[in-house]
Amino acid sequence: MGPAHAARRQPGVPPARAPTRRGAVMADVAINVEDVSKRFRIYHERNQSVKSAVMRRGRARFEEFWALRDVDLEIPYGKTYGLVGHNGSGKSTLLKCLARILVPDKGRVVANGRISALLELGAGFHPELSGRDNVYLNGSILGLSRRDIDARFDDIVEFAGLEQFIDTPVKNYSSGMYVRLGFSVAINVEPDILLVDEVLAVGDEAFQRRSAAKFDQFRDEGRTIVVVSHALGSVRNMCDEVAWLDHGRVLEVGPADAVVGKYADATTQTPTEPAHVHPSDVRMTGLTALVDGRPVQELAVGSPIDLRLEWQADRAVAGLLLAVQLRTSDGMLIGTARSDALGPLTLGPGTGAVDLHLESWPTAAGTYVLDAVVLEQGEPERELDRLSDAARLAVVAEGARGHEGLILLGGSWS
Ligand SMILES: Nc1ncnc2c1ncn2[C@@H]1O[C@H](COP(=O)(O)OP(=O)(O)OP(=O)(O)O)[C@@H](O)[C@H]1O
Ligand SMILES: [Mg+2]
Repeated sequence: MGPAHAARRQPGVPPARAPTRRGAVMADVAINVEDVSKRFRIYHERNQSVKSAVMRRGRARFEEFWALRDVDLEIPYGKTYGLVGHNGSGKSTLLKCLARILVPDKGRVVANGRISALLELGAGFHPELSGRDNVYLNGSILGLSRRDIDARFDDIVEFAGLEQFIDTPVKNYSSGMYVRLGFSVAINVEPDILLVDEVLAVGDEAFQRRSAAKFDQFRDEGRTIVVVSHALGSVRNMCDEVAWLDHGRVLEVGPADAVVGKYADATTQTPTEPAHVHPSDVRMTGLTALVDGRPVQELAVGSPIDLRLEWQADRAVAGLLLAVQLRTSDGMLIGTARSDALGPLTLGPGTGAVDLHLESWPTAAGTYVLDAVVLEQGEPERELDRLSDAARLAVVAEGARGHEGLILLGGSWS
């Protein structure tokens, strides 16, 4: 984790904390996000062989995908601003656009002040260099002179709590140590605007407390903070204003309490709006978990269960394959079940359902999310549609013991 990047103060644009007459119009806006759209290309071949490349005559098979769509936001100066939204809704992409690590395909971002950012794990650090060298490297990327960094060095190391490890190559750091050093650099370079992407949770409790105090101090000093987080309680406590992103669009902006409340309601009532990623003639329309033929949202550890995948097709489509993917509630893929055993499927025209029976539910207690996927067989295989977050299951156990972790390890002892 590193302080990833800085947009240096643009010549002629005064920092908003000391607005001049020229800056007065902008003085209350730290970052203006003007109709920003960002597009990615999704390439389909995973195991690209020479043969398949020749068959395609060198053409790449990809689909375009808009991760951000017409995002229009004014991030006020001196406020703590939160971004919430489901996995893949575009929060990190937006932060990267603010940090100028990504360039929008449409629209623009106007920042008023020095930005420092703490983005993904590992970003901004050189693994072979020591913590000390990385502090100097990052400080200089963030626009500080060697003397500036000398003056701040001890504070940076102390805040990170890495005195003993500062001359160790950062490749030997734990993820918590990475985050601590990255965050410490990012805040000690005196940014006007600090961007933080859901990373602070990695540090230990003492560090989290120090970070929270630093956020308060930043706020009191009138600096601007933009945070991305799934920890809705913290967002509600920390933030003045919140924007809710949904499939790359802004769904709601307003006071933290109100927006977080609405977002929380929406995610618990409709298990995170299912998202169709690919347009196609055949679509996944639902996934229902059934115990003894009855739909459930909760089940006991180890129970047998049926997962019913519902599909819709505009015409008959042959050569298909269905899959279910199981994820943790924060998006980590745990497992996949595919319909290969049924042979190539022909679906449509119309609607229908296919069941997957599990003899015993494979995870420990917790909340789990299921995606329903339809693929086209072939070389390469192609994902036609995915219903993300199609169902959410609360897996419950009597007593918490033995349920640390994700899966049931089981086994027999002797
Ligand atoms: N470099 C990339 N190439 C292709 N697609 C990408 C790239 N980066 C992000 N995406 C896609 O853009 C969408 C938005 O991703 P982003 O990381 O911004 O989501 P997020 O809101 O931060 O999600 P999370 O809560 O899981 O962190 C996702 O569908 C993601 O797969
Ligand atoms: Mg993210």
